[in-house]
Amino acid sequence: MIIGVPKEVQAGENRVALVPETAAKLIKAGHQVSVERGAGQKANFSDADYEKAGVSVAAGADEIFSSSEIIVKVAAPSPSEISRLKQGAVYISFLNPLAEPSISAELAGRGVTAFSMELIPRTSRAQSMDALSSQANIGGYKAVLTAANAIGKYLPMLTTAAGTVPPAKVLVIGVGVAGLQAIATARRLGAVVSAFDIRPEVKEQVQSLGAKFVEAKIEVDAKAEGGYAKEVSEDTKKKLQEALAETVAASDIVITTAQVPGKKAPVLVTKEMVARMRPGSIVVDMAAEQGGNVEGSKAGETVVLNGVSLIGPVNLPSSMPVHASQLYSRNILSLLGLLVKDGKLNLDFNDDILKGACVAHGGQIVNERVKGLLKS
Ligand code: NAI
Repeated sequence: MIIGVPKEVQAGENRVALVPETAAKLIKAGHQVSVERGAGQKANFSDADYEKAGVSVAAGADEIFSSSEIIVKVAAPSPSEISRLKQGAVYISFLNPLAEPSISAELAGRGVTAFSMELIPRTSRAQSMDALSSQANIGGYKAVLTAANAIGKYLPMLTTAAGTVPPAKVLVIGVGVAGLQAIATARRLGAVVSAFDIRPEVKEQVQSLGAKFVEAKIEVDAKAEGGYAKEVSEDTKKKLQEALAETVAASDIVITTAQVPGKKAPVLVTKEMVARMRPGSIVVDMAAEQGGNVEGSKAGETVVLNGVSLIGPVNLPSSMPVHASQLYSRNILSLLGLLVKDGKLNLDFNDDILKGACVAHGGQIVNERVKGLLKS
C-alpha cells in the first residue's frame, strides 16, 4: 500500500509520524512509503536518512495527500489538510475526538476512514499501539526536568565539604502513565517523592517506585472503564484539596497530571494552597491545556503567584521529538499491522482495537461517544 507522511503543520509540533527505521520495516513488508520534504527535520531525521531507508521524498504535501492510500500524522489535521484528503483514504493521528468532535465530523464528511490514536483501547493486546502512553511517559519525564531546571535548588541530598543539602520534596498528583514516570524520574534525581491519585489501587505502584502515597481518607468510587478515573463532585474535590493541602505546602515541587478523559481537568490545587508554599517553589501543571489542576495556571505560560512559579507546559512530548517520534512511529507500525493484511486494507471492525479507535467510516461518525458529543 502507499503510506504517506506529511510534514506536521501545527505550531510547536516537532514530531514526525514515521521515522526512517519504522518506514524501512514497512517497505520491507512490501509497502511504499513517502514523506514530505523536511517532515523529520525537527526530530533530527533528514531527508537523506529517509531516502537511505528506501522512502521517497515528495516536494510538497499535495503530492502526499493525492497519492497516499494511508496518511499518518501526529497532530490532528488542519482544515486545509482535511480538504486535501482523498475519499476512501485511511487517515491516522491524534484527533482529540472528545474535546474537538467536529474534526472527526469533518473527516467523516470527507469520506475517509479515520482512526484516533487517543481511542486505542487500554488493553494488553493494544499496548504496543498505545500512543497516549508512549507520549505521556515522555511528558512525565519532561515535567520533572522542567521543574528541576526552574527551581533554585538541588533535587538530591548532597553531603559536601561546604555542608549538607537536604533532598527536595516532590509531590505528584495523578498517578497514571505520566505520573508514574514523573515519580520515577524525580526519584532518579534523588528527590523525596510523595504521590496521590483518586484511584487507591495505584498505592502499591507508588510505593514500589520508592514514593509515599498520600492517603486522602475519603471514600470515592472513582473507577471508570479502561482504568480511567470518573469525574468527581465539587464536594469531593474540596475534600481532596483539604487532604492534599499539608503535603502541597511542604513540597518544593508539585507536578499535577490528573485528568478525566473528555472532561475539564479537576482543580486539585487552589490559590490558597499555592500561597502556603515556600517562595521559589515550582508547580508544573501538566493538565493546563485541559483547564488545569492548579488554580491560576495558564497553558503555555509561567504564572508567578506569591513567589511560586506555576508552569503550564504545552505539548511536552514535542520537546523531546527524537524519542517521541520513534515511539509514536512504533505505535503506528503496530496499528498498521492490524489494518493491513497481505498487502491489502483489512478493515475488520469485529476487532476491538480497530472498532474502538475508528471515528469515521463510509461518510459516517462510527464512534458512539463522538456521535453523542456532536448531537449535544
Ligand atoms: P489520565 O491521563 O486520564 O489521568 C491521569 C491520572 O489522573 C489518572 O491516574 C487518574 O486516576 C488521575 N485522576 C483523575 N481525577 C483525579 C482526581 N480528582 N484526583 C486525583 N487524581 C485524579 O490517565 P492515563 O495516564 O492515561 O492512564 C489511566 C490509567 O489507564 C492507568 O493508570 C492504567 O490503569 C490504565 N492504562 C492501561 C493500559 C493498558 O492496559 N494497556 C495502558 C495505559 C494505561
